[in-house]
Amino acid sequence: MSIFQPGLLKGQTAFITGGSSGINFGIARRYAEHGANVAIVARNPEKLEAARAALADTGARILALSADVRDYGAMENAATQTREAFGEIDIVLAGAAGNFMAPAAQMSANAFAAVVGIDLLGTFNTFRSTMAHLRRPGARGLVISAPQAVNPTPMQTHVCAAKSGIEAFIKSAAIEWGALGMRINGLSPGGVEGTEGLQRLSAGGLNNEFAATLPIPRYATVDEMADMALVLVSPLSAYMTGHVVALDGGISLLGGSYSMAWLRAQQGR
Ligand code: COA
Repeated sequence: MSIFQPGLLKGQTAFITGGSSGINFGIARRYAEHGANVAIVARNPEKLEAARAALADTGARILALSADVRDYGAMENAATQTREAFGEIDIVLAGAAGNFMAPAAQMSANAFAAVVGIDLLGTFNTFRSTMAHLRRPGARGLVISAPQAVNPTPMQTHVCAAKSGIEAFIKSAAIEWGALGMRINGLSPGGVEGTEGLQRLSAGGLNNEFAATLPIPRYATVDEMADMALVLVSPLSAYMTGHVVALDGGISLLGGSYSMAWLRAQQGR
């Protein structure tokens, strides 16, 4: 049973990047279940179509749009199509992200640029391209960050750089956009079960044994992220902007030292 009022987002429109899988798909489902029209934006047309079909049981109107968040023209096109189909956009979720474990001493410039491009430039492109189509006052922005924004993490320099940039963007934009009738916040998940992100980090040693060492000794679920993402666009958070909610079991309290044990294991020392 949901703790939320049914129809909480009735008649509203949400634009969600990275919406075909993982946390973002879970959020798309939650918003759709609560009455929103949802545009999911992602690169892979097959995954998008599967996601659109999987959301059919919500009864919501779903638009599946193929675009790379690094491509500003493609994002403008997606934003325009959403406006034409559903009217003004109420909620923008910048969720598209890229990740892999790689040592900064060896990764290519293109590898670093790929992650910073998807996460950081992609976040800017998402908001800039939808800005002319927002319902204002009243629009809400949400960005998916990560504990790497505040925990220095080896093998994740590209992600740390991108996510800390994202958190600076959220705070700076919040100051600028408040009087324009828009608020923007962040959600920072730790490890979330069943997601590609966790799968990629597990390959580098952040496995279930690691989860047991966290302050709350488990990983999170997609449903927990979706519920918080609903709170962050609901009237409950109407006076909140520029804040990043750490829904991460406490990993962001640990700083960089948490990663030394698995780094030593990786490096065989
Ligand atoms: N280690 C080191 N370098 C890697 C890498 C890895 N595991 N995976 C990719 N790269 C490099 C590639 O070799 C390439 O660099 P090069 O041109 O110098 O060889 C560069 O990264 C870009 O790779 P490419 O596959 O062309 O980029 P892409 O735009 O298609 O994919 C990624 C972007 C690399 C971030 C890819 O992992 C991705 O699409 N991720 C999305 C899904 C995801 O990560 N989800 C979890 C989010 S938390």
